[in-house]
Amino acid sequence: MSNIACWMSEKKIQKINWVEFEKTCKQYGFGLFKLDLNTSLESQGTFCVFLHKLTDIIASADQGDPKCASLIHRVEEYIKAHPSLVVLDPISNVRQLLNRYISYRKINSTNLHKFGIFIPNFCELNSNNLQELSNQLKNSKVTYPFICKPSLGHGSKEAHSMSLIFNEKGLHDCKTPCVAQSFINHNAVLYKIFIVGDKHHFVERPSLKNFHACDDETIHFDSSDVSKAGSRNSLTLLEPYEIVDKVEPDPEVLKRIAVTLRDEFGMDLLGVDVVIENNTGRYAIIDINSYPGYDGFPDFYDALVNCINKKVNSKCKIDKFGDN
Ligand SMILES: Nc1ncnc2c1ncn2[C@@H]1O[C@H](COP(=O)(O)OP(=O)(O)O)[C@@H](O)[C@H]1O
Ligand SMILES: [Mg+2]
Repeated sequence: MSNIACWMSEKKIQKINWVEFEKTCKQYGFGLFKLDLNTSLESQGTFCVFLHKLTDIIASADQGDPKCASLIHRVEEYIKAHPSLVVLDPISNVRQLLNRYISYRKINSTNLHKFGIFIPNFCELNSNNLQELSNQLKNSKVTYPFICKPSLGHGSKEAHSMSLIFNEKGLHDCKTPCVAQSFINHNAVLYKIFIVGDKHHFVERPSLKNFHACDDETIHFDSSDVSKAGSRNSLTLLEPYEIVDKVEPDPEVLKRIAVTLRDEFGMDLLGVDVVIENNTGRYAIIDINSYPGYDGFPDFYDALVNCINKKVNSKCKIDKFGDN
């Protein structure tokens, strides 16, 4: 039987329904086992698919953590030695998503702007000189209030420690290196698009409430407290006068985003955060992640194994007949 080898953090492993996942794999003719990255991969049996969520390990390896670097090295060597292995998703493609600035630039290079979809103005801040920061923000048309997001979006708790800066006085709160991004008012509603190969699904989540440029002090927050299902706190609750009828998102626009970004990033397992701008109704992409949580994705395991199966079949064809 063809095997799928899987590696995820202990936390992510806990959330998986293994009985269901294994059963679905079997229906498609696959066996399933957990890979141990601490020992030789060759010794763990044969597998034709490697399914992983290695983002945090790759991020820490790239930051110089020797243990993570050696794990990733082991994985990369194995992949190199087994060219017919199907990897979801390829390590080099996952790497493009680690740095927020690089991902935003990549999204901006697509034709999504033709469909009224945009990335809020952003720039990368590396300096600690306030005048320089102020000039950079002006040049990139980043407006107040803006969110300061750590450039590295994975690998540590700090990757999600953010600031909302309301005025020039707040510039000294920028923790560089970071990406500064104009805040888009969106009535505290965010849509998460979950992508699994050629299928996608979106769910609604809480999000930051509306904010305006003012004299307020900087607000520091942990983004993991904001857009989880059911998270309600002072940052996500709208003022009573702001509560309006919700605009339903246009499924065609969300589909356009899913199809375009899957293609652009060369990845099958993606999550994209989208908000709809008040007044203009334009769609803003504010975040993209590899292998997101998929909470609320109907028949997730079936979609996942179906996607894996298609990849295995098309890879077999390429291996047999060449790529043309
Ligand atoms: N440009 C923006 N405009 C308005 N709200 C934003 C913007 N960027 C982020 N947010 C809010 O901050 C939260 C965290 O930002 P995000 O970039 O998704 O970080 P993370 O990578 O930690 O998920 C989002 O869920 C959303 O509520
Ligand atoms: Mg997010």
